[in-house]
Amino acid sequence: MALLEIKKYPDRILREKTEPVREFDSGLQELIDDMIETMYAAPGVGLAANQIGVPKQVAVVDVSAADKKSPLIVLVNPEIIHKEGQADSEEGCLSIPNYKTIVRRADKVRVRYLDRHGRPAEIEGDGILARALQHEIDHLGGLLFIDRIGRIKRGFFERRYARERSSGRM
Ligand code: NI
Repeated sequence: MALLEIKKYPDRILREKTEPVREFDSGLQELIDDMIETMYAAPGVGLAANQIGVPKQVAVVDVSAADKKSPLIVLVNPEIIHKEGQADSEEGCLSIPNYKTIVRRADKVRVRYLDRHGRPAEIEGDGILARALQHEIDHLGGLLFIDRIGRIKRGFFERRYARERSSGRM
């Protein structure tokens, strides 16, 4: 296994459309294991493949630090098939260091996906699990949580982020 470099905003790979996985081969298994290791080392509660420079529809999620009953989930070609309710909660992203803000998302989701061996699966989650699933599936569509905040907050973020990057603090 290997730790992978996490791409940081505004790296363009974060905006690229990811491709569905068709081959569940040893290369995919290695990618998934490396992503899990990289997520835990960061540490983070989720990681999408394009965040480590691979534009494929693969993501890993583990919110067990906040929600003990929640397992490690490996999502291949995931799709949200049901959304319910609304929740405002603080969010951050490994690709956007030193910035957290409140993001509005569905409170409950149902996701259809393939597991790491290509078997169809579904998962339903609420609270932090629902948030992490939506955040990672957004990544696979080239979307970031800063795309889901208001214009004024976004402007404030962009100025601060540019300032921190130019001062070499990240
Ligand atoms: Ni993220």
